[in-house]
Amino acid sequence: MPLPKAELHLHIEGTLEPELAFELAARNGVRLPYADTEELRKAYLFDDLQSFLDLYYSLMAVLRTEDDFEALAEAYLVRAAAQGVRHAEIFFDPQAHTARGVPIGTVVEGLGRALDRSRERHGVSTALILCFLRDQSAESALETLDAARPHLDRIVGIGLDSAEVGHPPAKFREVYAVADSLGLRKVAHAGEEGPPSYITEALDVLGVERVDHGLRALEDPALVARLVRDRIPLTLCPLSNVRLRAVSELSAHPLRRMMDAGLLCTVNSDDPAYFGGYVGDNFDAVGEALGLSVEDLRVLARNSFLAAFLEGEEGVREG
Ligand code: HPA
Ligand code: ZN
Repeated sequence: MPLPKAELHLHIEGTLEPELAFELAARNGVRLPYADTEELRKAYLFDDLQSFLDLYYSLMAVLRTEDDFEALAEAYLVRAAAQGVRHAEIFFDPQAHTARGVPIGTVVEGLGRALDRSRERHGVSTALILCFLRDQSAESALETLDAARPHLDRIVGIGLDSAEVGHPPAKFREVYAVADSLGLRKVAHAGEEGPPSYITEALDVLGVERVDHGLRALEDPALVARLVRDRIPLTLCPLSNVRLRAVSELSAHPLRRMMDAGLLCTVNSDDPAYFGGYVGDNFDAVGEALGLSVEDLRVLARNSFLAAFLEGEEGVREG
């Protein structure tokens, strides 16, 4: 039995497995520049975040209809449930779809169909977090939040993702303030490739309650002290960090040192179709590489529920 856990850092577009990509490409008449799934998988060798993002955005061309987004979310929930996920807070990137002419309503309603029946069908409660692409303009983020207004009953919070370096959090001060006034929860990717000062800025300027990645926090002792004091959760993604070369190998991952420093760490999968494993695979791999004890793994699983926005109603954490 896998440990019950919550997944808090998961891009739904990053769960697009090659098999489903080809199936949707055929259904929608989209030509992929790969002969087959094997050739596509061979392209999953990344030098850094940007080289991954280029492929990640281009493969999204196959996602066009509500049915496609429903199929994507359903496939993720099946895999997540099998790895012990009881609660998932799921990122989506509306601008990556609206830029291709797919309306945000198609994305949210399609995903929503799968999420609505997830608790009953898979025993997984869910929430959606709308992410802004930080390499797009602040105006585009504001327009995206506006376009999302009719769908806010399905959206628990906002996040910030895509190419980090050169796009510091403060660029999005205004849209975070608007989201706050709408009662949305706030997270942001920070300190994945960007410096620890981006983490500080995300806390100070955006008012984030949880930091996605936060991998580089240990470089700034004053920041670590603050994160520990304020119990700010970090959503770490060990296999992602290796694949995108943020760390050289799993045995060099700072997770253990971060836990020892008293940080509230969680383990997540980020883009599991691209990075070699779902969240349970991340627990197994990092546990093995760092020699984590069963108790350490329990702490990480418990942290994932402590860090979740939707406090589990009865049954989410148990059984
Ligand atoms: N980092 C930043 N943006 C992303 C990622 C990531 O790992 N995955 C999808 N968008
Ligand atoms: Zn991410």
